[in-house]
Amino acid sequence: ANEKTFIMVKPDGVQRNLIGEIVTRFEKKGFQLVGAKLMSVSKELAEEHYGEHKERPFFGELVDFITSSPVFAMVWEGPGVIATARQMMGTTNPSEAAPGTIRGDYGISVGMNIIHGSDSAESAEREMGLWFTDQDLTSYDKTL
Ligand code: CMP
Repeated sequence: ANEKTFIMVKPDGVQRNLIGEIVTRFEKKGFQLVGAKLMSVSKELAEEHYGEHKERPFFGELVDFITSSPVFAMVWEGPGVIATARQMMGTTNPSEAAPGTIRGDYGISVGMNIIHGSDSAESAEREMGLWFTDQDLTSYDKTL
């Protein structure tokens, strides 16, 4: 099915100039970019986005980090994009992520793990709704 998912280059990925590399990987894989913006994240949005981690000891650190400098938020579309994007990102802890994945190639810190991607269809819907309005998202057929 043609799915959509929410993908975000975190502050470390932006600062390390990895936006282009990450966009390129998704483009070359064959997925379609339907929305994107570079933005500062409010504390409110960060806390809402990471709501399921509220009770974790690292919650404060997580919110501080994601609000520390801009992120690049995106929506990608394509068959199976939710699960495939997770494979392309690699495991949450970059130290364990396979070489060839984004985290495996570029990270070693579980906090600063470069990229976020929705982990299910439900999360994708929720996160796209938090980060983007319907008007922010495009819908178009590739003709070239
Ligand atoms: P993400 O996929 O964005 O979703 C939750 C985030 O919590 C995760 O990536 C990690 O960056 C972060 N996280 C998980 N474990 C830890 C930890 N022990 N310390 C700091 N951050 C963590």
